[in-house]
Amino acid sequence: MVSEKKKRIFPKNFLWGAATSAHQVEGNNKLSDWWAWEKAGNTAESGRACAKYELYDHDFSLAAELGHNSHRLSIEWSRLQRPDGSWDNSEWDHYKKVLSSLTAKGIKPVLTLNHFTLPKYIARQGAWLNRNIIDSFSSFAEKTASILGGMAEFWITINEPNMLAEMAYLKGEFPPCRRDYKESLTVLAHMAEAHAGAYEAIKSALDGNAKVGAAKALTAFHPCRKNNLFDMLAVKKTRWLRNHSFINSLMEGRLTIPGMPEKILKTKKSLDFIGINYYLRQFVRWQGFGGRKSFGKTCPYQHHPESGDITDMGWEVYPEGLYEVIKEMMRYRRPVMITENGIATDDDRRRVEFIRLHLKSAAKALSEGMPLIGYLHWSLLDNFEWTHGYSKKFGLVEVDFKSLDRKIKPSGWYFADIIKKGTF
Ligand code: GAL
Repeated sequence: MVSEKKKRIFPKNFLWGAATSAHQVEGNNKLSDWWAWEKAGNTAESGRACAKYELYDHDFSLAAELGHNSHRLSIEWSRLQRPDGSWDNSEWDHYKKVLSSLTAKGIKPVLTLNHFTLPKYIARQGAWLNRNIIDSFSSFAEKTASILGGMAEFWITINEPNMLAEMAYLKGEFPPCRRDYKESLTVLAHMAEAHAGAYEAIKSALDGNAKVGAAKALTAFHPCRKNNLFDMLAVKKTRWLRNHSFINSLMEGRLTIPGMPEKILKTKKSLDFIGINYYLRQFVRWQGFGGRKSFGKTCPYQHHPESGDITDMGWEVYPEGLYEVIKEMMRYRRPVMITENGIATDDDRRRVEFIRLHLKSAAKALSEGMPLIGYLHWSLLDNFEWTHGYSKKFGLVEVDFKSLDRKIKPSGWYFADIIKKGTF
C-alpha cells in the first residue's frame, strides 16, 4: 500500500536553521574596526543592531519554535581580547551562556570565529595584511577551543575569505578600504595560513572532537556568450580564483592562489566540511590575455534576458546555481553544509519562493547522493547589512528597530513546515 504521507527528502539528522553574525545582530561592538569605521562617518552605524547581545535567549526560542535544530553564530573577537593580549573573562562567560541557551533548546551551535570584523588594535597593526595576524588568530582559536570547546561540534574559522579580500582590499568598500589587487591576494594567502593554524589549534585542543570548516562564498559563474571559448576560459579562471583557490590550498596544504608564491601550509586537508554561502549567478565576459584581464569582467544582468528576478541587493535569483556549486565542491570529497543562502527583499512572498526553489536544488544534490549535511538560511533576523545599514531585509523574523519587537514572517513559518515534514 502506498503511504499517504509524502516521503522525506531531507534526512532526519539534517541540520536546519539560520545564520547570523555578531556585528550584524549583537549591537554595540564598540571595540571593532567596523565600529570605528562607522563612527568615522564612512557608512551607516550599526548602533544597538538587534540587541541580540541581550535578547539572544528570546531569539533562540523563536528559532526553536520554528523547528531549527542548528544555528550559525559568530563570537566577537574584539570583545574577548584586549590590546595587551589578555582576555576578558566576563565576555567569555557571556558566550558560554549564549551557547548553553542554544543547547538547552536542542539547537546545535555552528560557531564562527571570524565574520569580517577585527579588534581595532589588530586592524591598527595592519589587519589581514600583517603576517602577525596568522599567529594571533591561531591563538584566539586555541583559546576559544579551550573555553567553549565542548559546547560546539561544528566550527567555522573564517567567513568568506575571498569576499573580505575583495570588499576590503580590492574594492575599498569595507575597512581598511584598500584598493590594491596584490594586497587582496596577500590577504587571502594570510587567511589560508590563519585557517590552517586555527584548524590545528582547535583539533588538538579538542582531541579531534570537532568538525572544522570555513564558510566560502561561492558564485555560479556562467560565460556571457554561451559556447564562446574566450568567455569560457575567463569563467574557468575566475571560478578557480574565487570559488576554488582558497579551498584547494587548504586541502592540498600549500598555497595555490594565482599570482602568489606557492607556500606549504601548517597542515593539509584542513577542512572537515565545506561551508557554502550561496547567493547569486554572475556572467563573465572575456577581456583579453594576461594578468588580471584574463579573469574577464562581470557582465551586467541587463545584457542577459535569461536572468531571473533581481533582489534588493541587485543579485540575480538563480536557484539552480546552488546545485551547481554543491556539485563543484564534490572534487574535495568532503561533506558540505549550506552556511548561508537568502534574499534581501521587503516582499516576504519572494522569500517563500526563494526558499522553495533553493531547497529543491539542495534536494536534487541529495537525491544524487551528494553529502549535504545542512541548510542554514541567511538570516534569522533582519539585521545590519554592512554598508547598506538597515535597508536590506534578509530575516525570517522581522525586527522593529525602534521597539526591538520581533515578528515571525510567513517565510519563517513556511521554512518551519519544510523542516517539520522533511519535504515540500
Ligand atoms: C554574506 C555575509 C553576510 C551577509 C550576507 C548578505 O556575504 O557573510 O554577513 O551580509 O552576505 O549580504
